[in-house]
Formats: sequence, structure tokens, C-alpha cells
Amino acid sequence: MSQVKIEHVYKRFGSVTAVDDFNLLVEDGEFVSILGPSGCGKTTSLRMIAGFEKATEGEIYIGEHLVSSSINKTFVPPEKRDIGMVFQSYAVWPHMTVTQNVEYPLKIQKVPKEERLKRVQEMLELVHLGPYGERFPNQLSGGQQQRVALARALVARPGLLLLDEPLSNLDAKLRESMRFEISTIQKELGITVIYVTHDQAEAMTMSDKVVVMSNGVIQQIGRPYDIYTKPANKMVADFIGLVNFLPGEVKGDRVFLEGTEHSFANNSNLTGAATIAVRPENISMSTSGGMIEGLLTHRFYLGDSVDYRIDVNGHHIRVIGKGADFDSIQDGTKVYLDFERTMIFERD
Ligand SMILES: Nc1ncnc2c1ncn2[C@@H]1O[C@H](COP(=O)(O)OP(=O)(O)OP(=O)(O)O)[C@@H](O)[C@H]1O
Ligand SMILES: [Mg+2]
Repeated sequence: MSQVKIEHVYKRFGSVTAVDDFNLLVEDGEFVSILGPSGCGKTTSLRMIAGFEKATEGEIYIGEHLVSSSINKTFVPPEKRDIGMVFQSYAVWPHMTVTQNVEYPLKIQKVPKEERLKRVQEMLELVHLGPYGERFPNQLSGGQQQRVALARALVARPGLLLLDEPLSNLDAKLRESMRFEISTIQKELGITVIYVTHDQAEAMTMSDKVVVMSNGVIQQIGRPYDIYTKPANKMVADFIGLVNFLPGEVKGDRVFLEGTEHSFANNSNLTGAATIAVRPENISMSTSGGMIEGLLTHRFYLGDSVDYRIDVNGHHIRVIGKGADFDSIQDGTKVYLDFERTMIFERD
């Protein structure tokens, strides 16, 4: 088990600042995800923690050890950091069998052969590959290869496991079941995990804490519940879940929906122009009456719900009707919306 402390870390590639003042404390045994859109600096951050990339500035501690420091020129190489890592392209060695792949880190550590094979077999059982030891990677499915990479990262019992989009090559069903497997293995072994993904569902379901990044900058760190219900800004609200943004105007303790008499409690300390944000599941729609009048323009059938688009003063609002009957309201119908919960952000 390892605590990880990252203080004021920057990474510049020429004029590009890929990571801009990264600060994070990962507690012993915690599962933390770094979440954000493509190119926001997730892999670069993880590679600096692993030691495959040198931070331009800042300090990184793993456990009690200062492993990277721009001030006193410390740099501990990856193999001395007590980490396991699964890379974004989960390369397993094609010329080695499953057993040889997983055995390799223990060979490097000069663990005696008998113990090596015992530990490899234990690890293969853990990732449900017990009978596959003699196969070569090209005789395995993508998901099985991904599990070989996971077993290889875990076999040396690292205090810290770093995973970069480890489920990206799997189909939706397998991805979901692997989420559970990784969570279960993490809890069984009690290791600290830092997990990089652009998939919010993955981050939400597995993590104790989520770090949301955009353009190299951390936007928010919090529990999944907190970043969803109390996003720090528009970017976080937009990236995590679905949300409608509408122009508003703060007047005293109310926020007025632009062009209407409708207002909501102002739970921010903003004044003047603002953005009102409301999630689709927090809007109720009726044909008989309600606060905001609009016109149903489109609807999409999703099986367990209907996804509606409503035009309100030229703004398109998205409403999700859980378990709604697709045929009960036709396109072109006048509808009424009530917002049950709103968030207020700065207008940009
Ligand atoms: N070696 C490099 N030289 C120059 N720029 C780089 C280098 N590596 C990464 N970058 C840039 O740094 C930024 C962050 O890249 P990074 O790989 O960390 O993104 P990411 O969040 O992992 O994205 P993805 O979700 O697509 O994997 C990008 O703009 C990328 O082009
Ligand atoms: Mg990446």
C-alpha cells in the first residue's frame, strides 16, 4: 500500500503545457480516477507518477519516498518506484506464453522459480485465466489479453497500481464486468490505484475520488456523488452526465430565465449574467400545465426511457422520460416543464 502525494507538478513539451500545476493526495488503499477529454493530460500525469516522463516542475512522493523533485533534482526510475502499470495500449509480449508474460516481473526481481510459478498461478486464478497459462497472446481474446496485462502488473504485489484506459479495447458488456473485477481485486489486495479514463461511467462506479481534468488543469477533485451533484464549473457539469445550459440573469436572491418571468433560488454568489444548468432527469414534463411552456420537437426511443427535445424560446432543452410511453406525446405538442433542481454558473 502506498500513499501518493503530487505537489505543483507541471509538464511542458516545448510551448505546450500538457499538465499545469497538478496537486493531488491519494490515500493508502484509495481508488482514484483521473477523468477528462482526449488530450487533457491524463496519460502524461500518470507517466510522471510512474517515472516514464520527467516532470518539468514539482514534487512527487510515493509512500515516504520523494521520487521526483525539480528543486533538488531527484528522479527515481520506474523500476525502483514499487508500482505496477497497465499502459493505454496494453502490450503483452507476443512471443511469450501467458505464464511467461506474468512471470517476467518476478524473474527481474530474482524470485526463485518454484515461488514464481506459484504466484503466477495465484494471479491467473484471480483474473480468471487459470487454465490459460500455456497459450500465446494471439490465442486469446482482447479482453483476456487485457487481463494478462493486469496480472503482470499485479504479480509483483506493487503498493501502487497505475492503469491507463485498461478497458478501452473491450466491448461494452466485458468492460462492465471488468470494472467489477478490478474493484474486487483492488479491495482484496488492498492496493492503491490511480486509474486514467475518459469514460465517466467507469470513473463514477469504481472510484473513491475522481479528478476531473481539462486542458492540463485540474477542474475538480471529489467523490463521484459530489462532482455530479455539485460540479465546480460548467466544464465539469457538462463532462459528467447530461446537462442543459440556459441563459439567466441574477437579481438579488433569484435567477431569472432569460426572456421569461420564471426564476429559481440563487444558490451561487454571482451577480448579473449567469448560466442556469439543469440535468434532464431533474425536469418533469406535462401536457396539462407547469412553469415553463415549450414545444416538443423531437423524441428518441431508448428502450428504458424516451429522450425528448423541447423548444423553449428558441433554446433546445433535453428531457429524459424514464419508462415513458413513446406514443403518449406526439411531436409538435405544447408541453410544460418544471425544473426540480438547478445549478448556477458564470456566463462565458
Ligand atoms: N511527447 C510529447 N511531445 C509533445 N506533446 C506531447 C507529448 N506527449 C503528449 N503531448 C501533448 O500533451 C497533451 C496531453 O497528452 P496526453 O497523452 O497526456 O493526453 P490524454 O489526456 O491521455 O489523452 P487521451 O484520452 O487521448 O489518451 C496533448 O496535447 C498531447 O498532444
Ligand atoms: Mg491518454
